Amino acid sequence: MSENQYLLEMLDIEKQFPGVKALDHAKLQLRAGTVHALMGENGAGKSTLMKCLFGIYTRDGGTVSMNGKPVAFSSPRDALDNGVAMVHQELNQVLRRSVMENVWLGRFPTNKLGIVDSKKMYDETREVFEKLEIDVDPKQIIGELSVSKRQMVEIAKAVSYNARILVLDEPTSSLTEDEVEHLFRIMNRLTAEGVGIIYISHKMDEILRISNDVTIMRDGQWIATKPASELTKAEIIRLMVGREMTNQFPPKNNRIGDVLLDVQELTGMYEPTCHNVSFQLHRGEVLGVAGLVGSRRTELLNTLFGYFTKGSGNVVMSGKKIDNSTTDEARKNGFALITEERRATGIFGENTILFNSIIANVDAYGKPLLNSKKMDKDTDWVIESIRVKTPSKKTHIKSLSGGNQQKVIIGRWLLTQPDVLLLDEPTRGIDVGAKYEIYQLILNLAEQGKGVMMVSSEMPELLGICDRILVMSNGRVAGIVERGKDFGDIPGEQETIMALAAKYV
Ligand SMILES: Nc1ncnc2c1ncn2[C@@H]1O[C@H](COP(=O)(O)OP(=O)(O)OP(=O)(O)O)[C@@H](O)[C@H]1O
Ligand SMILES: [Mg+2]
Repeated sequence: MSENQYLLEMLDIEKQFPGVKALDHAKLQLRAGTVHALMGENGAGKSTLMKCLFGIYTRDGGTVSMNGKPVAFSSPRDALDNGVAMVHQELNQVLRRSVMENVWLGRFPTNKLGIVDSKKMYDETREVFEKLEIDVDPKQIIGELSVSKRQMVEIAKAVSYNARILVLDEPTSSLTEDEVEHLFRIMNRLTAEGVGIIYISHKMDEILRISNDVTIMRDGQWIATKPASELTKAEIIRLMVGREMTNQFPPKNNRIGDVLLDVQELTGMYEPTCHNVSFQLHRGEVLGVAGLVGSRRTELLNTLFGYFTKGSGNVVMSGKKIDNSTTDEARKNGFALITEERRATGIFGENTILFNSIIANVDAYGKPLLNSKKMDKDTDWVIESIRVKTPSKKTHIKSLSGGNQQKVIIGRWLLTQPDVLLLDEPTRGIDVGAKYEIYQLILNLAEQGKGVMMVSSEMPELLGICDRILVMSNGRVAGIVERGKDFGDIPGEQETIMALAAKYV
């Protein structure tokens, strides 16, 4: 093998969709035994490049080679048989089947009589799990596992095929810190064996920690490939967005007003849930909600929104007791909830961006949807204010990149002009430039005197835009941290939050 031979080399890759040049001379050169981060803003072409590798899309031009030999995979299955595996963010597993059946799907080992050899399946699955320190019973029904465990199973499956190339598309978005560490250990073990890993993520700190090389794309084009050791966060951002971004957060001009929500001893009906949660949300306030994964922050928001059943406690809104016993009632009371799982639960894939933008706000357009001018205008607002990358508002939402689909869902709820906006991990999967736009929209709402509650696992973002931070620990309020004068810059504040988050664990 010559020195400059790559494990995988994709050169001059072209892909045109109606109205969008998704890939324009894209390039990726993966060295064996390394982690190669693939970065770029939402819609830059990362997923499309991978789909061209796996034969999900047919590329319009360019070459793909493995160890110098041209390859062309007709399907993910074909790629897998040739040692190239991918773990998607949306897992494609047969939920009612066992773990081992999922690992062996499509290649069940049979004995002499042609009967499926479950013992072999079990033993070999166990063996791979042991090697990767995955603590899962191969016989368990896969649908019973947490998303993170299912993701681990998917990685084990790739390993069981002796994959030489592994692609991970935003793998850590739903993992706890321990699980991220575990994933990184597995990645290190695989690269030590010569596997090449392509790692797609928006999490800059993780990228700088785990990867050897970083390729940055913008508008479908290759922009740069550099060793991670030569890059800083600021440099990556500059290459990604193509301009200097001096501020990560917009200036705050919101004013705290009267009490808007008075939540008293709120407890959900069914476990796991929140317990005796009391706090006040003021008009004009952005209240952050911090906590470890599993601290029931999502349960709190869902209970407030009437999506999960309330057990006991009161919610008083502007002096009046409200129930929010259904999500419809919550909406009528002026609440909006942007969920963590918005891509799974919020998208009407077969419909246009226009439909997906206005759907939560239909009452505003008259019946039967008479005011198409206003619908057009509102959709334009969604596209412009959060910079949704799309050829038109008539484009089907499913053809947008993952991050851009999320932006539409966020815009949808902002259009309803809620009095209380509940956000669950609003910037997960969203690139740095668009994050800024979302912060700006949140702060705009606060400036108009609305109340915002935002769950986030990103400490800098909580410190950057919130006025106070409610810290949850094991379903209960561990404390509320007030914003000091130099709030964002004092690491002491972060430590306080961390300590509170662990209070009842
Ligand atoms: N099936 C499709 N039909 C039409 N356009 C598409 C299709 N798939 C992707 N695109 C477009 O190609 C461009 C690149 O999208 P891609 O999904 O590759 O972005 P990405 O870099 O993965 O972004 P994200 O970080 O949001 O996941 C986008 O403009 C997207 O709208
Ligand atoms: Mg993508």
